[in-house]
Amino acid sequence: MFADRVLSGMRPTGSLHLGHYHGVLKNWVKMQHEFECLFFVADWHALTTHYDNPQIIEQSVWDMVVDWLAAGVDPAHATLFIQSKVPEHAELHLLLSMITPLGWLERMPTYKDQQEKLSGKDLSTYGFLGYPLLQSADILIYRATQVPVGEDQVPHIEFTREIARRFNHIYGKEIGFQEKAEAAIKKLGGKKSKLYVDLRTRYQEQGDDEALESAKSLLDEQQSLSHGDRERLFGYLEGGGKMILSEPQAMLTAASKMPGLDGQKMSKSYNNTITLREDEAEVTKKIRTMPTDPARIRRTDAGNPDRCPVWQLHQVYSNEATKAWAQQGCTSAGIGCIECKQPVIAAVLEEQKPMRERAQLYLDDPSLVRNIIADGNEKARKMAQETMRDVREAMGLDYK
Ligand code: TRP
Ligand code: SF4
Repeated sequence: MFADRVLSGMRPTGSLHLGHYHGVLKNWVKMQHEFECLFFVADWHALTTHYDNPQIIEQSVWDMVVDWLAAGVDPAHATLFIQSKVPEHAELHLLLSMITPLGWLERMPTYKDQQEKLSGKDLSTYGFLGYPLLQSADILIYRATQVPVGEDQVPHIEFTREIARRFNHIYGKEIGFQEKAEAAIKKLGGKKSKLYVDLRTRYQEQGDDEALESAKSLLDEQQSLSHGDRERLFGYLEGGGKMILSEPQAMLTAASKMPGLDGQKMSKSYNNTITLREDEAEVTKKIRTMPTDPARIRRTDAGNPDRCPVWQLHQVYSNEATKAWAQQGCTSAGIGCIECKQPVIAAVLEEQKPMRERAQLYLDDPSLVRNIIADGNEKARKMAQETMRDVREAMGLDYK
């Protein structure tokens, strides 16, 4: 069993491009071998901004899953599912909304930023305001410990931690908590009981975070502990009451520096992308027609790579020798721009080749993708249902 559980979601709002590959997917592929991983299609989140043209979402859902698989996300190592197929996310979102102060949502930096950025759209909706809370429900319902996200999403993870704390504070109280926690410590058995108590003391008296982490992994390893006792002992570590929802950590993924065809960051809104499985001829054409150093008008004019977007792609795709060749050839007018672009074209095509091949398998037989997702939905739903049982019980909603 893994102690860490990684969860991340992506909104299906269009085709994925090489920026997504270098910025997110490569990281997912790596993590699936290191942690228990859950990756999901955040279709409800897409709806918060695309409520008036949901066709894009419908089209993008399956394409996006094929893109994930093409990039090497492996259903044997990671659980892939669709948010809306696990309706428990919506139930948790609703229940959490009861204890979410409006101010916390209104102060979210993404709230104002996105409204300004997408000013053509009316985003003064209830759904959009609740975006971060829906994200919290996504995370908390799987008791995810790690959430890989970009910088812009860090406030959402911090918010999620606050919601979990608030929930535990309000609903984690139980009569006789202290006695029950002490009884649970005894159940750990002599040596482990003592270790738990020592670690807890070190954390509470000296703020020793390492001791806290060790105590948590000690609890993670205890197979025989009942669920209630586990919640108590986790809660008892940090004071308070039972810990029903656990606080996740943001796992910051380095901002993608993937340059687009015009030298700006690759992004759909700049119209400068190469899509993940773009047709070979199209890739070739796009790179061939990329702008270069504007001072290099004639073949005989020397250029400056620092003013050329192609040079930035060399940084991503070329080895030292090729970079030296381009640098030297450019500044001495020894090579032409088409020549300079050739190794970049070759490297992009080479990178995409296994992706195209893997995708073909799924395009030839779409039922494979449907089955992978059906499996993932089912697995995810089981986990979500377990958490919801605890949540309903804690909130006194488990009456029959
Ligand atoms: N908000 C995320 C984004 O825009 C997508 C997302 C939704 C997500 N739910 C999540 C990411 C849960 C991580 C965990 O990128
Ligand atoms: Fe850019 Fe290469 Fe042309 Fe120089 S030779 S301007 S680096 S494409």
